[in-house]
This record gives sequence, structure tokens and C-alpha cells, in this order.
Amino acid sequence: MKKILFSVSILFLLNSCKESKQAETSPFEGYAITKKIEADNGAVVSAHPLASEVGRDILQQGGNAVDAAIAVQYALAVVYPNAGNLGGGGFMVFHTKQGENYSIDFREKAPLKAHKDMYLDSLGNAVPDWSRNGHLAAGVPGTVAGTFLAHRKFGKLPMEQLIRPAIALAERGFAITEREARALNNYADDFAKYNTQPTAFQKEGEWKAGDILVQKDLAETMKRIVENGQAGFYEGETADLIVAEMERGGGIISKEDLKQYEAQERTPVSFKYKDYTIISMGLPSSGGIMQQQMLAMLEPYPISEYGFHSAKAIQLMTEIERRAFADRTEYMGDPDFVDVPVAELVDSAYVRARMADFTPGVPTPSDKVGPGLKAAVEKEETTHFSVIDAEGNAVSLTTTINGVYGSRVVVGGAGFFLNNEMDDFSAKPGAPNKFGLLGTEANSIQPSKRMLSAMTPTVVLKDDKPYLVLGTPGGSTIITSVFQTLVNILEFDLPVEQAVNAPKFHHQWQPDLIYVEKDFPMAVRDSLKAMGYTIEERRPIGRTEVIKITENGIEGVADKRGDDSAAGY
Ligand code: GLY
Repeated sequence: MKKILFSVSILFLLNSCKESKQAETSPFEGYAITKKIEADNGAVVSAHPLASEVGRDILQQGGNAVDAAIAVQYALAVVYPNAGNLGGGGFMVFHTKQGENYSIDFREKAPLKAHKDMYLDSLGNAVPDWSRNGHLAAGVPGTVAGTFLAHRKFGKLPMEQLIRPAIALAERGFAITEREARALNNYADDFAKYNTQPTAFQKEGEWKAGDILVQKDLAETMKRIVENGQAGFYEGETADLIVAEMERGGGIISKEDLKQYEAQERTPVSFKYKDYTIISMGLPSSGGIMQQQMLAMLEPYPISEYGFHSAKAIQLMTEIERRAFADRTEYMGDPDFVDVPVAELVDSAYVRARMADFTPGVPTPSDKVGPGLKAAVEKEETTHFSVIDAEGNAVSLTTTINGVYGSRVVVGGAGFFLNNEMDDFSAKPGAPNKFGLLGTEANSIQPSKRMLSAMTPTVVLKDDKPYLVLGTPGGSTIITSVFQTLVNILEFDLPVEQAVNAPKFHHQWQPDLIYVEKDFPMAVRDSLKAMGYTIEERRPIGRTEVIKITENGIEGVADKRGDDSAAGY
């Protein structure tokens, strides 16, 4: 077997992390962040080294990519509490070794007591705080149901074997990284404000790198899931604890909501782009349809000749992004509730017509593409992981509690954060959500409806075999990050590390400006400004996890922007 390069991961020594040793524990005691691996058999890239290692171990124990993905999902709920979750939802795209494509929708749903105007004040104005923070912001979680549906359809190893590593991590604790310590400290006031009981995420004084985070309540919740399956979360003690938390904090999720929740199999979005087949997530995520639209708009242009990060290439991609986001705003929502004209949106004549008014070197004002308001952009926290197994099964899975630590509400006695996914609905036409995204009736709140998502777990096939497995967090920037990564690799032929880590840009129709990362080249900014574009610098965009499979083997690359880490064998 080929040697695994660049991987310096070593086994996590749980027993060495005794509480008495907390102060001296090194932030990376027992594990290391590995940004790039090469492997022959299988690989996992996720937001946390311990989760990637759990997934790799499951592959080595004979599990397939779905088994590993389930184990990673539970592990991330422990080691990456700002986005990994039991209290949120997500989407899984699965390409089987037999060449079939599946997707599972475990997106949260609006509670039965939700209603269209629930986030409007007496004057009819949207109150962002109500949909973003605290108990009322939570949708009915879908994650546990998603893992069980995936397991029923494709799992090989027993569920207990997949959840056990997460239970061990929660029960015995693990050393937190500097980034996690910073995040926990940043949100300490919110944890105090929104929680009705002490949580594992609060402590006397500041968190620091190397402190051990122990989550006993979460371990018990996971044990109930092992014992009782899906009902261990949606019924019985866990359901009682969720509903009691809702009652303490003024939330509306009921026992009926939990009992009724089912994950759904959906037909994935699948389309050709040049020599590649792209498999991605369909509604209620906008991500896959928008990749199809954007790549179809791009295809007639010889962008690879323009040069990577040339102003010409970025202007073209910006104008494509602008048009796709305008469509998202107008048409997209939960397909179980609204008729979304998907076939028309991806029709080649329609897509070509969208670019009819594109002029190289000249911005098309967003007001000419569609109506809209200026909006603020806030935090985006979601997490993605990519898995490939030795047989060629590929899983691309993006999961979220929406904001950093979701609603910041931990279910008392159950130990997990609840999402604030209700903010992904359009509280009112023209009122931006936390990503500055606008919406219309198609994405209005209705009981049991799923809120529109941007999550874009994607698998790219070349010669009908998995070639890329990718995705990213980042709210609205998910869509443009995946688009850029695809263009960087498929068009500019960049090495994966560069495709992932090169400075990114983002346009989402409204507000009408191009966001760029801090290290985005100044000369390109100047050229775009000279064309008439407004440029705004912002915090890092996305954390893209890519696996590339070629005849030479498997390459796993974790984004430099976080503690993201790859593991393989
Ligand atoms: N909460 C981010 C998304 O689903 O798009």
C-alpha cells in the first residue's frame, strides 16, 4: 500500500486527558490537524481531526462510506459543537459503487405551532432576534432521523458501532483547540442568556486551548439513541427533555412535532458539465439547482483562457452568481409546499437568456436583474464532510444548526445545542435573513415546512466514477464557494489545495457588491472597481473539504480556514 503522505495524526489518548491535568494539556494532545493526505483505500475530510479519524477508523473496520459518514456526524456533534449537531439538520448526497445516486433530506421543519408572521412585531416589522436567538428560533431537528434513514438504506455496520466513538468522546472528554476555546468564550454571554440550566459549554473563567470538554448529558442522549434507535431521540426521555426546554424558554416544538419528523429521500440534482457529471442536492436546498444554473451560464465562455483570478474571469462569475441568486430569491422553497419551476430554471434556453444582457467589463446593476434591499451579512456556521470508501462509494454531507452554536440553547439534561434554522425562512418578503438573503412567498413560514437551504453537498463524476467529493459551510457563500472550487479544478486545473485555499469572492445579487476575502489580490480588486463594481472585504469564506480520486489514488484536502483535517488509509 502506498505510504500516506503528510499525515501526522496519532491516536487520541482519551485516558491521558484526566481532569487534574487540564491546565497542562497541550491543545493537540493526542491528535493533530492534517491538512492533506494521500491514501489508497479511503478518506474522510471534516471540520475536526477527531471526527475525521473516527470516520477513517470505521472505514478500516469494514464500514462503507455511509457508515463512516454516520459516525462522523455523531462525532462532530461532540467535538465540533458550534456546527456539528444532533439538534440540527442537513443533506447527504450518496454515489454508490454501482453508479446510483441518492440524496437524503434531513432538513429541520417548522414546528406545527409556527405561523407565517411569527417573527413580525405589532407594526409588521421582522424582528431578527426572534428568528436567530433562543428557543423560538429552533426548527424541529432532523439529524438523528437522517442518520437512521441513511443507515436503513445503505448501512453495513451496526448503528451502535457507529455511535460508540462519539459517546466515548463525549463521556471522557477531549482537548479543545484554540479556535474552539475562542468561540466558546465569544458566546459565553449568549450561553448564559439563553439557557435555563447549566451547560457543559460554560465554566468559571475563560476556556483555553487544551482544556477538556466533557459532555455527560450528550453521552447519555446518544446512549438512548443506541438503545432505542430513532425513538431514542424523537420519543421518550430525550423528547421529554426537548419539550421541557421549550416550555422553560418560550419555544414551540412539541412532542407531536418530534414524533412526526421523518427524513426524506429526494432525487438528487444531476447534470452534465463538459466531461463531468455533477450530483448535488435538490430542494429544499437551492445549492444543486444553482450549481446547474451557474455552470450552464458559464459553459459557453472559455473561462480557462481568461486566467485564474483574472478580473475578466471574476467579473463573469460575479454576473452569473448575481443572476442565479435573483432566481433563488424569487422561486425557491420547500417542494412539498410550493411549486418550484425547476425544469424552467435549469432549461438551457432560459439560462442562456439570463446572460443575454451580460456585457464583459460592465456590471449589470442588481436592480435591473430583480428587486431587492440592501442587507447586512452575519455569521455562517454549518459544517461539511466528504467521505470515499475502498469500494468507490462516495458520501458528501453538509449539516448545520445554522448560526454558531445555533440558537445557543442547549437542551437541559440532553446536552446538545438546538438550531436557529427558522431564520432560513423568509420572515417577510424583502426582510433579509442572517446571510442577507431575501425571500418571497415560496419560502414563507408554514407549519411542518422545510426552510430553504444553501447547502451544496456535491459529488463530481468523471467517466462515471467519483472524481471529486466536496462541499462547505458558509450560509449563502456555500453556493459560490462550491461554484468557485468546481471552476478552480474543472476549468483552471488548479491543484486541490490551491483550489480550496485561494482567496474567494462572493456575489449574491443583493446587496449589490462583491465580497472578497482579506488576501484577495489588490490588483484584481482595482480592475473590478474600475469596471464599476463595489468591493467589500469580509471575514473568511467557507471551509471546503475536498476529496479527489484519480488513477494515482485518493487525495483529501482540508480547508486552511479552520481546524479542518483529513484522514485516510
Ligand atoms: N443554514 C444554512 C443553510 O442551510 O443554507
